Amino acid sequence: MISVDNLACLKQIAFLGGISDPILISSQMLGEELGFSPQTASRRLKDLEVAGLLERRLLPQGQEVLLTEAGIQVLRDDHAVYHRIFPSELDEWVMQGTVTSGLGEGAYYIGLESYSSQFQKHLGFLPYPGTLNIKLTPAGTKIRKSLHSSRMITVSGFELGGRTFGDVLCYPCTIEHVPCGIVIPGRSHYPDSLVEVIAPKNLREMFSLVDGDEVFVHVTM
Ligand code: CDP
Repeated sequence: MISVDNLACLKQIAFLGGISDPILISSQMLGEELGFSPQTASRRLKDLEVAGLLERRLLPQGQEVLLTEAGIQVLRDDHAVYHRIFPSELDEWVMQGTVTSGLGEGAYYIGLESYSSQFQKHLGFLPYPGTLNIKLTPAGTKIRKSLHSSRMITVSGFELGGRTFGDVLCYPCTIEHVPCGIVIPGRSHYPDSLVEVIAPKNLREMFSLVDGDEVFVHVTM
C-alpha cells in the first residue's frame, strides 16, 4: 500500500508531464510544491524508485524522473476510486493531437456500404466517407493504448467482388461535442500514436481544420 505522501509525489510528477516523458525536477522544487522539506522530497523519490514506480537519472542540475507502467497503474487505481465516488464526472479522458493527411484511402473504405451501415447501427450516424487522421501527443498515445476493450465495437468484415475486407474496431468519441468514432483497422502494425476518426460530417470543413491544427478527442472509459 502506497503512503499518502508518496502518492502525492507520483501525482505531482504526472501533473508536470512525467507520465509520458522524463522531466527534470529538483527535490527542492518538489518539496516546495508538496509542502515537504527537500530531504523528505528526496527520500520520497528514492522510495518510489525502489518500489519500481518511477525511473530516476541523477544529473548535476537535479534529476530526471519518469513514471513506470506500475507507477501509472497506481494513479489509475486511485482514479478508479474517485470514479466510484463521482461516477459521471471523471469518466472522460482527452487525447490531444494534430491533424495530418493520410493516403486518401479512408474515403473508399468508409464509403463501402457494408461498413457504413454497421457504423450507423453502432454509432448512431452514417459516417462521412473518409477519416480525419490525428497524430497524438505522447500523453494522448498512452490514453489511446489504454482504451477499454469493453467499449470497443467490432465492425465485421465481408467479401465483395472477390476481395476480403477485414474486421474493424471502433471506439466512440467526441470532437467539439460532435459524436465521432475512432476506427482501428485490424492490421497488427497499426501505430498507437495515430488515430483515424469518422464523423457524421467532414470535420475539416466544420471546424476549418488544416494539417498541423490541434484537436482534442474526448473518450470515456
Ligand atoms: O487519407 P486521408 O485521411 O487524407 O483522406 P480520407 O480518409 O480519404 O478523407 C478525405 C478527406 O476528408 C481528408 O482530408 C480527411 O482529413 C477529411 N475528413 C474530415 O475532415 N472529416 C471526416 N469525418 C472524414 C474525413
